[in-house]
Amino acid sequence: MSKKIASARISEASSELLKELNNSLPFDKLLYREDIQGSLAHAFMLSRQGIISKDDFSLIEKGLKEILGEIENGTFSLDRDDEDIHMAIEGYLTTKIGDAGKRLHTARSRNDQVALDFRLYVQKNTLILAKLLHENIETLLELASKHTATLLPGMTHLQHAQPINFAYHMMAYAVMFKRDHERFMSSYDRNNYSPIGCAALAGTPHPIDRDITASKLGFREPTLNCLDTVSDRDFALEVLFNISTMMMHISRLSEELILWSSSEFRWITLDDRHATGSSIMPQKKNPDIPELLRGKTGRVNGNLVGLLTVMKGLPLAYNKDMQEDKEGVFDSVKTATLSLKVLNEMMALLKVNEENMNRACMIGHLSATDLADYLVKKIGMPFRDAYHIVGNVVNLAEEQGVDISELSLEQLQSIEPHIGIDVLDILDNNASMNARTSKGGTATVRALEQIELMREWMKNLKI
Ligand code: ARG
Repeated sequence: MSKKIASARISEASSELLKELNNSLPFDKLLYREDIQGSLAHAFMLSRQGIISKDDFSLIEKGLKEILGEIENGTFSLDRDDEDIHMAIEGYLTTKIGDAGKRLHTARSRNDQVALDFRLYVQKNTLILAKLLHENIETLLELASKHTATLLPGMTHLQHAQPINFAYHMMAYAVMFKRDHERFMSSYDRNNYSPIGCAALAGTPHPIDRDITASKLGFREPTLNCLDTVSDRDFALEVLFNISTMMMHISRLSEELILWSSSEFRWITLDDRHATGSSIMPQKKNPDIPELLRGKTGRVNGNLVGLLTVMKGLPLAYNKDMQEDKEGVFDSVKTATLSLKVLNEMMALLKVNEENMNRACMIGHLSATDLADYLVKKIGMPFRDAYHIVGNVVNLAEEQGVDISELSLEQLQSIEPHIGIDVLDILDNNASMNARTSKGGTATVRALEQIELMREWMKNLKI
């Protein structure tokens, strides 16, 4: 049994089981920097407004800075019995500086304090994730710029469809990561408001100035409505959603890397650093890293659904259920940070087997659509008729065991006599890829343009 620190009403000591259920210090200790940062800003404002004396502020400031140092150098351990990080730091401050420490909590509640600390944490990590995305996009652009003429079969339904170049394929992921980056930054912007000073739920009669704390902490301004603020976890949900979406993109890329590194494809080779062996099969090289990245997507999705479920049905304002908000966010942030770092390293060292990709383009009659387009343009045939004729050409090629680009002019003319010698250029896979010059298309010129436009976008980014 231990004595409750934060309660004037409850005289009985807490049971060990209650503590185990109730205490958040084992995980919210991660917020010690944000808690101290928030308290420093709050104390500064209190003294500016004459709510506490300058002397008390000096003591609080000195004490909090000392505590920060002691936590970082390990002399003050956070593996303790306190209920949460807020109580642990305030309690220790008071043992250090006495009454001044007890004045720190004037005009504030743990409800706005935790909303502030958690928001500071989310905002800080949002910028870190955006920066890592930026680095990943750069790596993809670098990889893409080396492969604007490397042919591979573009697929739908995982079936060979039309020839594209590898730069174009990588740019598809670069564009996904651009959207992810934009999502993180727009969440950052939307949530850039300071919760501190909302107190328990209704504000405070003390003459505080929330603009002072907001600007000291780097927020745009204070939040508008305190009742909302102390029970709002949208900022946490947004980062969870943003991470889930980004991890879904990483997972899709990982899935392709796994396929492409298999014996059936052999389109890429993962660096030995990013593959492992089997304990029983000596010949094996397994794509564990992309498999783990794909697998980690499951837990971040779980974290998102978990918090959505916690928040659903909570009456205003703060409820203790909301203490369940943190572990999932910490886990998703940690997972996403590590995943982005690993992905970046893996993509930078990826070996592209151009010849194998190119060879795969000879399977699946990739230029069949080009032949149909040729018949439409050259003979003025309605597309549906051309489509059927090409079907017959494909059947002939299948019978002969070749790709349609390998059929002779005579063979093609046996199906459609109007086909001319110029068709042979059209059926070539490289020509087919380069013919798709419409905006956003795969032609090398368009892939180069996409790389260029993306570089422009990156240049104007602050993060
Ligand atoms: N540890 C709590 C949390 O994480 C802090 C807020 C407690 N507020 C309260 N009124 N009990 O949510």
